[in-house]
Amino acid sequence: MNAPIAEVLVEREALVARVDELAAQITADYAGKELLLVGVLKGAVFFMADLARRIDLPVALDFMAVSSYGSSTDSSGVVRILKDLDLEIAGREVLIVEDIIDSGLTLSYLLKNLRNRKPASLEVCALLTKPSRRRTEIPCRYVGFEIPDRFVVGYGLDLAERFRTLDFIGVLAPEAAAEIADEAGSLL
Ligand code: IMP
Ligand code: MG
Repeated sequence: MNAPIAEVLVEREALVARVDELAAQITADYAGKELLLVGVLKGAVFFMADLARRIDLPVALDFMAVSSYGSSTDSSGVVRILKDLDLEIAGREVLIVEDIIDSGLTLSYLLKNLRNRKPASLEVCALLTKPSRRRTEIPCRYVGFEIPDRFVVGYGLDLAERFRTLDFIGVLAPEAAAEIADEAGSLL
């Protein structure tokens, strides 16, 4: 794909290597247990698919979809569940798989919501984090990469549903990003 990328932040090779490391760590930490991965749609799908297949344990998969009210690049903190889990999580070892923690508001809501269902354990694995944007503390046990405050796309992350299928994490050229955000804004 000929995407208007200004800068590559995480190369494909680095993604593959880090996913391997995270999977090895998770495999060790949950040894002897069965794990339920909860992916947050849609940004986490590629990360979750790769991670799940590298974890050497019995792994079940489920998904949630949430939407946060707000603009395409800024989260408002008000979260709505669009698709809930299919499975009961009471008594299970649950690991939430997220693409990126930005303000932290989405995960803060999800953690509270899932904790109420009484899992045996509840942890977070995020591919990316932007610590400088955090508005609420999130206990995140597994983190792929810390990145600066830039809007990124690729490996699941999108701008207005585009660029998810890039196999690296990149920053869009500002003119392209502005144009796409504008077009998408007029469709909402
Ligand atoms: P938070 O509630 O502000 O932490 O928002 C997290 C969600 O916003 C992520 O799960 C993404 O869907 C989206 N998001 C935040 N930053 C980016 C980015 O740089 N690129 C694409 N999506 C992002
Ligand atoms: Mg997300």
